[in-house]
Amino acid sequence: MSLSSAPDLMVRTAPLYDRVKSVIPSIEWPAFAGDIDAILELKREHDAVILAHNYQTPEIFHCVADIVGDSLALAREAMKVDAKVIVLAGVHFMAETAKLLNPAKRVLIPDLGAGCSLAESITAADVRLLRQRYPGVPVVTYVNTSAAVKAESDICCTSGNARKIVESLGVPKVIMLPDEYLAQNIAAETGVEIVTWAGHCEVHERFSAADIQQLRAGHPGIVVLAHPECPPEVVAVSDFTGSTAAMIDYVGKEKPTRVVLVTECSMSDNVAVQHPDIDFVRPCNLCPHMKQITLPKIRRALETMQHEVTIDPAVAAPARRAVERMLEA
Ligand code: 13P
Ligand code: SF4
Repeated sequence: MSLSSAPDLMVRTAPLYDRVKSVIPSIEWPAFAGDIDAILELKREHDAVILAHNYQTPEIFHCVADIVGDSLALAREAMKVDAKVIVLAGVHFMAETAKLLNPAKRVLIPDLGAGCSLAESITAADVRLLRQRYPGVPVVTYVNTSAAVKAESDICCTSGNARKIVESLGVPKVIMLPDEYLAQNIAAETGVEIVTWAGHCEVHERFSAADIQQLRAGHPGIVVLAHPECPPEVVAVSDFTGSTAAMIDYVGKEKPTRVVLVTECSMSDNVAVQHPDIDFVRPCNLCPHMKQITLPKIRRALETMQHEVTIDPAVAAPARRAVERMLEA
């Protein structure tokens, strides 16, 4: 950026800053404005769209993303993308899901290190062993997994539809992997017997019932919304449990005076922008994988068309079937 262009840049990006001024101090904006301006131009140049998960930071979520949402919404929207290039501002399994559902598009992830502790917890060989141990029991796989694991599964689910998917199978017992807590929370809701796997989200497993009790003691009247990747003891003492999109809907509809979103840190910032009158209490845990994605890396992805997500066709076909079955259920 040349010195003479700096004032122009600030004028051009002023409407974007207006969106996020409640969560980004004005002194920080000049550090973001140049990348945002460049990314908007690069998107036009390359016919690209940016899909961003609800855990992305506000300068990504509110200033460069074309489509935002939870894992389920991002999967559905990826399928409909018309543009040539999809940049997935989220983690690797989300980019793989986008590629599975819209294979003709070039799908980029700005940092290949944006993984997930759940996806890391299980391999395709583990699923094959589970099938041997529980013959005939259907395998429901959380989307937070590699395409290779999805390929070994009967159907996928997200936190937004896990109950519906398990119930849609109409069987008394399922294998649900790899998130042990999500599986236990769904077993409690449905009464279906669930064989679990000992995978955990490194963000949500750190919350405890004692944390929630402390919050309630310190913030009278607070409404507690928890993600279903939290341990069952946390869900048991919360007022509502749902996916990141379900939490956003709850806040929009119920408009609690004071609320805590028991999930990743950026959620509260992103939602607070739209609800200036609500008091968001913000103890939260950072997802180190989601935070690998930054504006400079998104800019670089568009400049270099890196890192392209590819999936072995032998894996892609069965993995796609498991994801499509979920979307059709
Ligand atoms: P949802 O946005 O689908 O609720 O998932 C949360 C999550 O942990 C994604 O990494
Ligand atoms: Fe994975 Fe948890 Fe991070 Fe989501 S928040 S990407 S489930 S580690």
